Amino acid sequence: MTLAELPTAVGRRVTDPRPLAKDVSAEFDQMSGRTVVSALDMTTRELFDLFSVAARLQSGVTATDALHGTIVLTAFFEPSTRTRLSFESAAHRLGASVISIPDAEHTSVDKGESLADTGIMFDAYADIVVLRHFADSVIEDIRAHGMTTPLINGGNGRREHPTQAIADWYALVKWRPQLAERCTGGDRLSLGILGAPRRMRSLRSFLLMGARHFCTSVRDITIISDDPQPLDDEVAALLDQQRIEYRCTTEFAANAPEFDVIYQNSLGLEGHKYRELEPKYRVDSSTALKPGAVVMHPLARHDELGTDLDDTPHNLYFDQAAGAVFVRQALLLAISGRRDALGNEI
Ligand code: CP
Repeated sequence: MTLAELPTAVGRRVTDPRPLAKDVSAEFDQMSGRTVVSALDMTTRELFDLFSVAARLQSGVTATDALHGTIVLTAFFEPSTRTRLSFESAAHRLGASVISIPDAEHTSVDKGESLADTGIMFDAYADIVVLRHFADSVIEDIRAHGMTTPLINGGNGRREHPTQAIADWYALVKWRPQLAERCTGGDRLSLGILGAPRRMRSLRSFLLMGARHFCTSVRDITIISDDPQPLDDEVAALLDQQRIEYRCTTEFAANAPEFDVIYQNSLGLEGHKYRELEPKYRVDSSTALKPGAVVMHPLARHDELGTDLDDTPHNLYFDQAAGAVFVRQALLLAISGRRDALGNEI
């Protein structure tokens, strides 16, 4: 029996992460002090090491005092439920202290302070910073002014959401563990992407990470969007470079039964606000889904994703959100250089 065949309980996919908890390589240590801006900022080995550590933590292994004395700052200049709270939960579970900016109105940026000066304060007050901001260039801008503290991109404008991508692919590997072994033939996945990755950062990082690390496991990708140019040059070039077959279409219903994975995301940046950009594409129990297919969504959801899928085996979106705390714990351990923290259990 594969993990994909495990039964579901109360509509939530039950996947036992323990088989993923393999040995962690010395490359884990190379992430010490790292700033993570992009889904491309780690090697395949480093990514799988993060999955292994996350799987052990999700299996119940604890590292309660690993980051005792470390201060994690969550600086969110844009609303968040999952990213901020799961990072804070991850930090607390590792014994770190957490200081937090829940929104721009609670900072002196609201009084006109520059991002440069704000970054200098971050250096003075924290050991690791998780930053979310509506500006695409926020990481480059804050770094250009000399901030040196390890920084994790919690979502920058339309560009990237790399730790969402780690949580997404972790959820997929739990669902289909053979992804970690590089699939061939019938195991390869057909992906349906609902929305325009060019302006939806979770989709963008998901594709970048998939193209870089899982190219042999992907049979083809279909981008479904009414945007005439749904892909930007960087994503298109990487898909081409990795020889991943992809096409763009406006038609969802007729293509839905082909997909092993449907990634739905209707929220994109418009001005400084996130809005539903493609509400015409809805996934719910009336969608002709392939048997065994999974539906992914970074959440928050609106009408584009029916709650009537919640109690079905197609629901992988709650797994994405629940697993995020463990991959973020793994990332905090890696950036802090604490591979030793779980002793012989890692
Ligand atoms: N997935 C995600 O980024 O959710 P939040 O906006 O709630 O953090």
